[in-house]
Amino acid sequence: MRSHLLNDRTAGSYRRTVTAGVEHIAARLAHADRPFTGIAPPALAPVVDAVDLDLPLGDADAALAELDRLYLRDAVYFHHPRYLAHLNCPVVIPAVLGEAVLSAINSSLDTWDQSAGATLIERRLVDWTAARIGLGPAADGVFTSGGTQSNLHALLLAREEACDGVRKQHGADLRTAEILPRLRVLASAHGHFSVRKAASLLGLGEEAVVEVPCDAERRMRPAALAAALAELQRDGLVPMAVVATAGTTDFGSVDPLAQVAGLCAGYGVWLHVDAAYGCGLLVSGRRRHLLAGIERADSVTVDFHKSFFQPVSSSAVLVRDRATLRHATYHADYLNPERMAAEQIPNQVDKSLQTTRRFDALKLWLTLRVMGADGVGSLFDEVCDLAGAGWRLLDEDPRFEVVVRPQLSTLVFRYVPAAPAGTAAPGPVDPALVDAANLHARERLAASGAAMVAGTKVDGRHYLKFTLLNPETTTEDLAAVLDLIAAHAADHTGESLVPDVPAASASSPAPAAPAAPAVPVR
Ligand SMILES: Cc1ncc(COP(=O)(O)O)c(C=O)c1O
Repeated sequence: MRSHLLNDRTAGSYRRTVTAGVEHIAARLAHADRPFTGIAPPALAPVVDAVDLDLPLGDADAALAELDRLYLRDAVYFHHPRYLAHLNCPVVIPAVLGEAVLSAINSSLDTWDQSAGATLIERRLVDWTAARIGLGPAADGVFTSGGTQSNLHALLLAREEACDGVRKQHGADLRTAEILPRLRVLASAHGHFSVRKAASLLGLGEEAVVEVPCDAERRMRPAALAAALAELQRDGLVPMAVVATAGTTDFGSVDPLAQVAGLCAGYGVWLHVDAAYGCGLLVSGRRRHLLAGIERADSVTVDFHKSFFQPVSSSAVLVRDRATLRHATYHADYLNPERMAAEQIPNQVDKSLQTTRRFDALKLWLTLRVMGADGVGSLFDEVCDLAGAGWRLLDEDPRFEVVVRPQLSTLVFRYVPAAPAGTAAPGPVDPALVDAANLHARERLAASGAAMVAGTKVDGRHYLKFTLLNPETTTEDLAAVLDLIAAHAADHTGESLVPDVPAASASSPAPAAPAAPAVPVR
């Protein structure tokens, strides 16, 4: 069994095993002619269940062959140009090299004595990111597992700062439990759901999140934020943080950061910018201006695994004032005794919510060292350009309606039914049937594996979504996928989308009243 341990004596086996794995993956990637096979859970689950985990195969080649059936053959391949669904990117090769290195060395980023140079590399990247944001000389931060954790971490710091503020004003002996019910977090209606989850985990309850209305472009309305802040003040409540989103998940909209920052400064409220998606703008050659104002944030979330073409996980939380990170500092004699802080031993665990932690920063490091920041930024600019071209396609295509012109790289749209042939003045369409047509199109498309698109709701109705993060996707790909969607949707609806007005016979049940205004046919 010791032959399986990676050490000085097993270098040959390590090399052979990993090379075989790399060859296998390279072949799989090369032969992925669609992003997904469309397999359904009932077909795949029995194959996985049939594996006897107490009966090892003893050999990596056999395990890899088995894995091919269980996973690789039917995996969802983000590198395929017609994978257009969620916020997952194709990954760059230097980062994959980083992934291989970091798992082989297996540094743990909690303490210097488990990481050495890895700690320094992570720190350099935190400083680099903070400088790109413009957070100033006292900035700091730490890598995290993802945007959800980064948002939670930032809001924990904001909560502790708010509690300190309340105590300063109303009495040092106020207990946290007395303060928490008065705290509120303000976020746009399109902010990420992890903000509500964080509020809940932080003991505020998700009801503590006040939804700030957005404009037609799905950006937080500063006037609405001002009104919400004033109302909280009137009610004797404490705005603990405003969460502005730089790249909302559905629309890629960037909240007006400078105006939001101005309001936060006026009210003395912590500003957190969730740039999980929009962080790619930090390296964009042509769109950096969209982040103007982010430099005034108290904390920022960046997900390198969304718009820096990094493998999952790679994210960070940055703060303007490194002193605020103390709210997550706990000392343990066995690991990071207080004495070490006094000796200035760089233990990242002092800043992190995690203890044992991967050296994810290495992936970004190798990416920057090989490609450079401009290289990453140009890839992100390309997908934003593609979204612009996709928007024009959709806008000109009478089969579809598109919600907003994209700032980043998502497109939210839906199929709208055609009037039946020969209908001069078509009647209204039941919105539920339009929903069903779009849902059906998405499901059929995924089942065929020809393309993957996402879905979301806008004003309670079903829409489809392209999240474009692959610079290899072309406008022709988008046009072809739109044709497939239209064909599946039309297949589902036929002419039944247009209610036959006089047809409701006395015996047939009355159709349910549409929950939304009827959809005009084209
Ligand atoms: C705006 C935004 N914030 C946070 C998150 C959560 O990030 P993660 O999935 O890395 O936890 C997402 C995920 O899509 C997001 O779009």
